[in-house]
Amino acid sequence: MEEKKGLARNAANYGDREFALYLRRSFAKSMGYSREALARPVVGIADTGSDLNNCHRTAPELIEAVKRGVLMAGGLPLSFPTVSLCEPYLNPCSMHYRNLMALDTEAMISAQPMDAVVLVGGCDKTVPAQLMAAASAGVPAVQLVTGPMSANRFQGERLAACTDCRRYWARYRAGEVDEARIEEVEAALATTAGTCGVMGTASTMACIAAVLGFMPLEGASVPAVHADRLRIAEEAGAQAVRLIHKPVKPTELLTPQSIENALRVLLALGGSTNALVHLAAIAGRAGVAIDYHRLNELSDTTPVLVDLKPTGEGYMEDFHFAGGMKALLHELRDLLHLDCPDLDGVTLGERLGSGPAYVDRTYIKARENPVSPVGGLVALHGSLAPEGAILKRSAATPALFETEARCLVFDGLEDLAARIDDPALDVEPGDIMILKGAGPLSSAGMPEAGYLPIPKKLARQGVKDMVRMSDCRMSGTAFGTVVLHIAPEAVAGGPLALVETGDRVRLSVEKRSLDLLVDEATLAARRARWTPPEAPRRGWDALVRREVTQAPQGADLRFLLPEGQ
Ligand code: FES
Ligand code: MG
Repeated sequence: MEEKKGLARNAANYGDREFALYLRRSFAKSMGYSREALARPVVGIADTGSDLNNCHRTAPELIEAVKRGVLMAGGLPLSFPTVSLCEPYLNPCSMHYRNLMALDTEAMISAQPMDAVVLVGGCDKTVPAQLMAAASAGVPAVQLVTGPMSANRFQGERLAACTDCRRYWARYRAGEVDEARIEEVEAALATTAGTCGVMGTASTMACIAAVLGFMPLEGASVPAVHADRLRIAEEAGAQAVRLIHKPVKPTELLTPQSIENALRVLLALGGSTNALVHLAAIAGRAGVAIDYHRLNELSDTTPVLVDLKPTGEGYMEDFHFAGGMKALLHELRDLLHLDCPDLDGVTLGERLGSGPAYVDRTYIKARENPVSPVGGLVALHGSLAPEGAILKRSAATPALFETEARCLVFDGLEDLAARIDDPALDVEPGDIMILKGAGPLSSAGMPEAGYLPIPKKLARQGVKDMVRMSDCRMSGTAFGTVVLHIAPEAVAGGPLALVETGDRVRLSVEKRSLDLLVDEATLAARRARWTPPEAPRRGWDALVRREVTQAPQGADLRFLLPEGQ
């Protein structure tokens, strides 16, 4: 049976499908639509505007522009709400709800009548959730991001969320900045609409969505408040209508080659470690796995070319006006699979054409003069992380790359909070601090707690970095020698569950290894005593504990993966 378009698409079937359609048209007419409007193909618009999402503050005007684009191209735009997630407002953390947003978005795309969908996202978890949803729903989808905030000018410096937030907070903890000053800074850190203004997770995911072909290359970086952002929104609407006439399933853009391109971009950006988990989840929905050994090969052959905070100097607006994704990809040309198509079937090579008209080398370096000759991320394996762990070497202190030391273990977030600033804490600058019990299956939901604070008493002595390890994540805007995503996690009974304070642990970035230097017999005895923490009984938390995969698989819900995964 030929699939019907527009409002007639996938009507409920209680025996008399014509009646269901008649009812649907009748109810749609109650909203004032004409017969002609309702005869058009429908572009759904996933509306993630929310009073609890500052990063999506511009969603209403973006949606208005998308609607204009859809109408001009001959479609009928119909927006609908979905779950919206904004980093600072979710407890225990936004990651705990990424899959809920993906589940909701997929269900609403699949269940409602739409021939294509424009996904309005931006904040860290929203773009991953929307692309995961689109891949599974199978409806042609265009990604539109809200765009990055613009940096503020403040007493001779520029500020934007959220690397500067952390920088100032660290100075406050160290006693270098007083109460009054930190309050002043609080009001100066984020002063326009849009996502965090550095190369954090939101920006990294926007760049990834662009290279994958779900939006134009410049769509990744146009500032949230720039007029071009609205023109991109209008074009997203037109693009969605084109897709109705020439459908492309989202999974067609998620191939082993396009995912490799995305990894190259992530590395060249010095992008967020979180993007690795999200990309694994998005790729996983298309049946594509990310192999950590391949990641290391890519990392060793991909230079970091973008000089933005958290590791460098610039802000997202600098990246944009320096030439943005087109300039970056042109520089990486020979490393990319140039035949990967975008939504219009235009190949990456064709999208790049003869390169950008202008490049500012302050922020986008040439291959001969990279920020770093190798990529920002490395995967580590060893007896402490049999299934892998991630280190953002570009944000780490090289002097700590080869460390063997005794460790100080915190068993969960409460233990960490209770003891980290205790003046009596037995900790030396050379120790390794380990947080366990905060992975994807934990009640903490894999928060961005991997960036353990330097204990106050050491911070006051001027200690700026220590080796830190955990099964959770770190904000894309953070920095330090921080080993993340240790798999299997402690709650799943990984070796991390067995680590105790005083054990020796060895990190070798050169060997890509992470080992727990404790003998087998001791570990076996500890394992015999170990019991997993009690599982939540009801609701979303219970589902998470039962179904979520480990970080290398994207921490997705197992039952949402394609068959055979
Ligand atoms: Fe939304 Fe940073 S809090 S992008
Ligand atoms: Mg973030």
